[in-house]
Amino acid sequence: MKVLVIGGGGREHALVWKLAQSSKNPKIFCAPGNAGMAPQAKCVAIGATDIDGLLQFVKSEKIDLTVVGSEAPLALGIVDLFKKNHCPIFGPQKEAALLESSKVYTKEFCSRVAIPQATYQIFEKSVEAKKYLKTKTFPVVVKADGLAAGKGVTVCQKEQQALQAVEEALVDGRFGEAGKKIVIEDFLKGEEASFIAVCDGNHILPLASAKDHKRLLDGNKGPNTGGMGAISPAPIMNTDLYEKVMEKIMWPAVKGMVTEGNPFIGFLYAGLMIDKGEPKLLEFNVRLGDPEAQAILFRLKTDLVALFESALAGELNEIQLSWETKPAACVVMASKGYPEKVETGFSIKGLEAISKEKDLFVFHAATEKKNRDIVTNGGRVLGVTALGSDFNDALERVYEGVQKISWEGMVYRKDIGR
Ligand code: AMP
Ligand code: GLY
Repeated sequence: MKVLVIGGGGREHALVWKLAQSSKNPKIFCAPGNAGMAPQAKCVAIGATDIDGLLQFVKSEKIDLTVVGSEAPLALGIVDLFKKNHCPIFGPQKEAALLESSKVYTKEFCSRVAIPQATYQIFEKSVEAKKYLKTKTFPVVVKADGLAAGKGVTVCQKEQQALQAVEEALVDGRFGEAGKKIVIEDFLKGEEASFIAVCDGNHILPLASAKDHKRLLDGNKGPNTGGMGAISPAPIMNTDLYEKVMEKIMWPAVKGMVTEGNPFIGFLYAGLMIDKGEPKLLEFNVRLGDPEAQAILFRLKTDLVALFESALAGELNEIQLSWETKPAACVVMASKGYPEKVETGFSIKGLEAISKEKDLFVFHAATEKKNRDIVTNGGRVLGVTALGSDFNDALERVYEGVQKISWEGMVYRKDIGR
């Protein structure tokens, strides 16, 4: 069979790597892919948002299954387009992808189905938003409605910062259409965890939990990023919390989407804030997390092709996932300047030194091949991932790997999982 993965980051490399282990022996393509995928997949130079180009490729290559890694093509309606053309694809349709592509939709949906979340108000006019801020205690969180490449959320410690975030979105148009509406919500304290499940419309099959590290710098300082490292499982997740997340967040979401005529098929990712054992929803994503996917898929023993086939057949209730009990850790190595302006084109040294180690793997993200070198071509470049007998062991192995790799200006956090 032939499988296409859409995207080119670390998450997509992890998907490709795991699909390549399937007993169904699929021929794997990735669009656009990255320089690390060559042993497992053929990279195709079609952008992840060129959904017409991707459809054409899938038809001409007779691809049996397409898996979408990132949110952008989902928000553009790639699943609707492929379904109309009878091309099997795993992911939510455009209307269901609103759970990620519109924070306004999601806040209102969660209110309708009683999912616990931060108190909020929605604004289109800056005067009203600013008036509301006068009534608040700080911090508050200002969020652009639409997709904003990870830059649409500002945690505002002071009123002045919140006023500026409102002004930038509603007056200056910093996020274009995505910022025409904003959500202002109360700040939630607690510990974050990522809870991701595979959904087939009616059934929920949770993956192992994970914890992301969103801030750029050690000690959870600096700006938010796409994620600088992940561990799986999330240490905070226990049976009691798991059941609460399922009962209060995942089931109301999946049943609510059915009731509202948008059954959810795909990865449903709940970004949680947990305070005193009680989970609240920060956000939904409609895809795997990056770098959570690297840590989670590293522990998955179940055949990933079989999992996708079962989801598309609506039969997730019939399978049980099998997991490596050892924990996994992934440390992201990024380019200088990330998440703002990055410098790229630097040659990466040391990759071959760890290419043969057991239970240690380097997932590529922003890499490309130039002549014989692998060079950086974006923000998050590599995700060094390992299993260990416990978290200390996994982290020791990961950091030993990280230390063997170098390029000019690389940055990484030294306290992932600590
Ligand atoms: P979001 O894209 O909505 O998940 O927001 C990105 C990040 O901002 C989250 O992972 C949190 O670290 C932080 N954040 C978002 N909303 C809140 C909130 N209401 N309270 C505290 N932190 C938040
Ligand atoms: N690591 C967070 C995300 O993928 O949204």
